[in-house]
Amino acid sequence: MNDLKLKRRSFLNIALTTSAVISLGGGRDLNAKEIEPNADTDHSFTTKPYLQNVSQDKITVRWITNKPCYSWVEYGLDEQLGNKAQASNLGLIEANNRVHGITLNGLKPGKRYYYKVFSKDFESYEPYKIKFGTTIGSEIYSFKTVSQQEKEVTLLIMNDIHDRPASIGHLIGLNGKNPYDFVVLNGDMFNYQTDEAQIVANLLNPCAETFSTEIPFIYLRGNHEVRGKFARQLPSYFENVNKAQYFTFTRGPVHFICLDTGEDKEDNHKEYSGFADFDSYREIQAVWLKKQLKSKAFKKAKYKVVVMHIPHYHSDKLHGTLHCRALFGTLFNQHKIDLMICGHTHKHGFYPAQKDHNFPMIIGGGPKEGERTLITLTANEKALTALVIDDKGKELYKFST
Ligand SMILES: [Fe+2]
Repeated sequence: MNDLKLKRRSFLNIALTTSAVISLGGGRDLNAKEIEPNADTDHSFTTKPYLQNVSQDKITVRWITNKPCYSWVEYGLDEQLGNKAQASNLGLIEANNRVHGITLNGLKPGKRYYYKVFSKDFESYEPYKIKFGTTIGSEIYSFKTVSQQEKEVTLLIMNDIHDRPASIGHLIGLNGKNPYDFVVLNGDMFNYQTDEAQIVANLLNPCAETFSTEIPFIYLRGNHEVRGKFARQLPSYFENVNKAQYFTFTRGPVHFICLDTGEDKEDNHKEYSGFADFDSYREIQAVWLKKQLKSKAFKKAKYKVVVMHIPHYHSDKLHGTLHCRALFGTLFNQHKIDLMICGHTHKHGFYPAQKDHNFPMIIGGGPKEGERTLITLTANEKALTALVIDDKGKELYKFST
């Protein structure tokens, strides 16, 4: 029912805002009339909350409701919660929107926080009089902020799911009970972008059922995410580092460089109807990359890992591959990179350092059964270790420094 309602809705209000923190003085909002989330009621959650962009002192909580509303997060160091955050932008508290993004600021490093999201809809929203409707609240979930002296980090990487939502739970499930800090979705999670209902059904819900209410994820686009009528709206549902599609960050002993490799064919290819502009976009990234490779954060990190969807070698000979090679290849070789992780080819592989690339490359497989992979990356003071397993849990490749 909700999906039909969503499809009929002709607009989206996207919350990309700063946030304000309000102390509740140790108590919850007792005036809020709360009901259990239920798809049969008028006002309901379209998704569970999903976590993005965690650091030592902040995290962003995102979720979608079926009706425009005012939303907030209550959070704290125990299940009593006690603090409230809402989004505020250009002097206005964010309201009358459906796609919510609220950043919890001023958190303590290395701590477990508990949180619960709330949304209150409107019976009417007049210029000088608002009548509030029903408040709905999620369950209480928890997350951990990044430690100040993070000695070890573990992440799980998936790629090329191609609209097969069951693969998300299946692949993450192969990790068993082993702890991990975050997940990277390395492109082509979809075949092409159709609408919000697709993002909810094929990505947000399966991620939430498996991990993302309590473990954050990073989303890197592949060449398929830039196709279809909803491709321009897709980034509005996610928040990466610096709210960017290409970015760097350090976790534990690893400095990560994430690139947005774009389409796989020439910009003027007939499939794109004149709407592709990826050459200039990749060129801008190459200029940016050059600076990143000279940065203090890059130089001082024990390990340097590049994550991007299209591998610039061991892939096809299409323009996207060759353009990435021409723009990024020499830069990667000039600086000491420890590992590159890609997807795209649908054929998993491990390629040790060689003449063309003086660092090892891992390519994750997919999307069909028997060809899917889960990549686990762990780094500590002793080693950087990447493990690639197939979708039955069998070890395919292991790389360790
Ligand atoms: Fe791809």
